[in-house]
Amino acid sequence: MYGSAQATAQINAMMINRNVTTSIDSEKCIGCGLCISVCPSETLSMKNNKAVVTGNRSLSCGHCEAVCPAGAVRVNGIDTNNPFFQSFMVSDQWIPFGDFNISELVGLIRSRRSCRNYTREHVKHELLEDLVNVGICAPSGTNSQKWTFTILPDRDSVMVAAKKILEFFRNLNRMAESLFFRKALKLIGKNSLDVYYQGYYKSVKKGIEQYEKYGKDVLFHGATAAIFVGSKPGGSCPSEDALLATQNILLASHAMGLGSCLIGFVVEAIRHDSSIKQSLNIPRDESIHSVIALGYPDEKYQTFCKRKKPVIRFFNNRKKE
Ligand SMILES: Cc1cc2nc3c(=O)[nH]c(=O)nc-3n(C[C@H](O)[C@H](O)[C@H](O)COP(=O)(O)O)c2cc1C
Ligand code: SF4
Repeated sequence: MYGSAQATAQINAMMINRNVTTSIDSEKCIGCGLCISVCPSETLSMKNNKAVVTGNRSLSCGHCEAVCPAGAVRVNGIDTNNPFFQSFMVSDQWIPFGDFNISELVGLIRSRRSCRNYTREHVKHELLEDLVNVGICAPSGTNSQKWTFTILPDRDSVMVAAKKILEFFRNLNRMAESLFFRKALKLIGKNSLDVYYQGYYKSVKKGIEQYEKYGKDVLFHGATAAIFVGSKPGGSCPSEDALLATQNILLASHAMGLGSCLIGFVVEAIRHDSSIKQSLNIPRDESIHSVIALGYPDEKYQTFCKRKKPVIRFFNNRKKE
């Protein structure tokens, strides 16, 4: 028996468009078979020493086009302009396995920080669009790429969202304050309001007071832009896809001189109050999986932040001699 999340993913996976848009130029094909070896969908096969389209499904992942040494493959379902970057140059060359400097990569990964102090400097639209185009280089379940990116490009737009979300938490705190209400919900097996009261009520109350008394933006930390990463219906793993794109954006932000911070409080508010999406012109049928505050950082670190010890285990099935 499937749980509801699994069933939804299953149905979504069936809805994904897998029409074949691949074509092979048989004049150019040298019959090396590389396109067939990397294809995840059995779309291609070899006939008379030439690759041919024989399958009726394709993920349109473009692996065949990217691997072909003869330029014989076209996958027409792919946007050939993407990813297109406006604020920096990037080579079209694929970096072979092991050919990138791991120390530099890990240095970037370790240096990224959740930034909670921003200058008032405006982030240019090109940079925000570039971040989205870095985001979409992430993997996605069944290559569905159902992600959406709602950009709030300036402080005023960020504050439209902030005010709406503060209103949500003001109402939630009002409900959570009532012992009678919390107890009544608990009696019918719903203890989430009580959990919220124990864990968040006080700090949220303090945050709302700081905003009301001093105009302090406790939600977006004064960020001058934000990206809401969501999904259209129909993806097989929409939240995973959105979060992978999100991590790309966080890393690229750091490399581009921007600070970033995930704002989980906003995601939670949107989950419970669809009018927030409406106020930002986000269609009702889209889900929001992450909200990234962005801006030029007004903070600097001396070193990396250390981590807790992770749980690591090996499962080793090799028989002892
Ligand atoms: C899902 C998620 C939600 C988060 N929500 C918030 C938030 O609402 N406000 C905030 O200031 N930081 C938020 N953070 C940032 C975390 O507090 C931060 O990642 C953590 O303390 C580690 O610090 P680092 O990101 O600098 O490594 C969130 C992080 C994640 C992964
Ligand atoms: S990778 Fe290119 S050259 Fe090789 S078989 Fe496929 S289409 Fe032909």
